[in-house]
Amino acid sequence: MLITGAGSGIGRLMALEAARRGATIAVWDRDKAGADETVRQVVEAGGAASATVVDITDRAAVAAAAEREGPVDVVINNAGVVTGATLMEASDEAIERTFQVNTLALFWVTRALLPGMLDRGRGTVVTIASAAGLLGVAKQTDYAASKAAAIGFTESLRAELRDARSPVRTLVFMPYYIDTGMFEGVRTRFPLLLPILDPHKAARRVIRGVERGTQQIVMPPMVRMVPVLRALPVRAFDAVVDFFGINHTMDHFVGRGPSR
Ligand SMILES: NC(=O)c1ccc[n+]([C@@H]2O[C@H](COP(=O)([O-])OP(=O)(O)OC[C@H]3O[C@@H](n4cnc5c(N)ncnc54)[C@H](O)[C@@H]3O)[C@@H](O)[C@H]2O)c1
Repeated sequence: MLITGAGSGIGRLMALEAARRGATIAVWDRDKAGADETVRQVVEAGGAASATVVDITDRAAVAAAAEREGPVDVVINNAGVVTGATLMEASDEAIERTFQVNTLALFWVTRALLPGMLDRGRGTVVTIASAAGLLGVAKQTDYAASKAAAIGFTESLRAELRDARSPVRTLVFMPYYIDTGMFEGVRTRFPLLLPILDPHKAARRVIRGVERGTQQIVMPPMVRMVPVLRALPVRAFDAVVDFFGINHTMDHFVGRGPSR
């Protein structure tokens, strides 16, 4: 199993969870210290893992790193970044980086690893998208757009694989906020209905989903209402979203700071 961005957050926890269930883990991250630490934790827990420093926005580096990996049956496109600024406050560079990491890298990583899965007649391509891909929120123009694209990417790939009668599967994960530090500072108005998710639980759900052949996971269950609510007129839809305080969740966002 290959996991991008597994040097931190749910990527690391998915690596630990999958290793516990017997998978050999390949960690790809641009952060060497984080990737090495994940490998150390996996090995300490009795598993097998390797770390490669890869910037997944670098197409040539992705292709070269994929060549060096052994057969990969599961790829988890997990690496992600967030800007956390309004449309006019975000820098051009931050906006581009969001799309490069959250959207375009899905293409480079998946195109490098999918042929092997097709040849072997098995595999799963996992996309860690976000509930933000289902619902736009203030200070997330780039992030929400990049995650909506990630959902579209996975759904179209699923259609192509279905058309080709391929046994290779896809799984898309659309969680609300997760307590990893990536969205440090966000607040939720009704924590019982829309809790900030426990990263261990989120990671377990994804790995269990891979094992069971699940194609879509939305967390918490309340988020499943979003597509249903879209049947309402826009003004009513927005009023519901505002009632739940969604549009102010980012008011106190600090995230991981400008360099992350
Ligand atoms: N934390 C949340 O609230 C939340 C909510 C919904 C979805 N998600 C998604 O879950 C995924 C993981 O998020 P997390 O909270 O664990 O974040 P995190 O910041 O803890 O981990 C992200 C990892 O991606 C790596 N990364 C970033 N850019 C990279 C690049 N160019 N090349 C290689 N690696 C790169 C980072 O070094 C880091 O190790 C992301 O796709 C994120 O958008 C997170």
